[in-house]
Amino acid sequence: MTRAVRIAPSILAADFARLGEQVQEAEAAGADVIHVDVMDGRFVPQITMGPLIVEALGRVTRLPINAHLMIERPERQVEAFVEAGAATVIVHVEASPHLHRAVQEIKALGVRAGVSLNPGTSVGTLHDILPDVDHVLIMSVNPGWGGQEFIHRSLERLRVVREMLDGIDSEATLEVDGGINEKTAGAVVSAGADMLVAGSAVFNGRESVGAAIARLRAAIEAG
Ligand code: DX5
Ligand code: ZN
Repeated sequence: MTRAVRIAPSILAADFARLGEQVQEAEAAGADVIHVDVMDGRFVPQITMGPLIVEALGRVTRLPINAHLMIERPERQVEAFVEAGAATVIVHVEASPHLHRAVQEIKALGVRAGVSLNPGTSVGTLHDILPDVDHVLIMSVNPGWGGQEFIHRSLERLRVVREMLDGIDSEATLEVDGGINEKTAGAVVSAGADMLVAGSAVFNGRESVGAAIARLRAAIEAG
């Protein structure tokens, strides 16, 4: 089966002083989704962005904005991100003892619910939540920073999750996040990913955002 592969630039690597412009460049270049990395200084060491950024970006782009919550007790923040305009809210399996409740809250607020797994967390932990989610994000680096090297074992993890989703006839998106570039894009798509987060490969300062997205798209098509 061929599925459309979507590119989700992560603004973590963007020039924050020109954030609106950079997002508009990404949209013009054919990006499909804007990926916002939310970090709280607890679940991961850095502190990054909150709902105010999601709300501001909604004024400069028509693309869906996905909020990747790398925060503890994400259920406390879900509503703020939905009100800010997030199209998908993604919570980490490791971040809350109340994952099911968080997923139900996200869906009740009328947006897509996603769950994410760190590289060291067994894909088996997805089993009981999988029928309830619209989106699964497999981390292919340890969360916290952009620009890290892709963890090769993630390919096998993607294959297993793709089988799990197909096994229950789920149409959930399977997203991969971390170390995605021209060299890794083809392999993650072959392993079953249909949404690719790319931060440092898209906002790299060496070329335009448009040129970077075009190269990534070409690598996906080349397989
Ligand atoms: C890492 C974030 C990623 C990050 C990816 O914690 O979740 O979205 O921005 O950056 P790259 O594409 O540079 O690995
Ligand atoms: Zn992310």
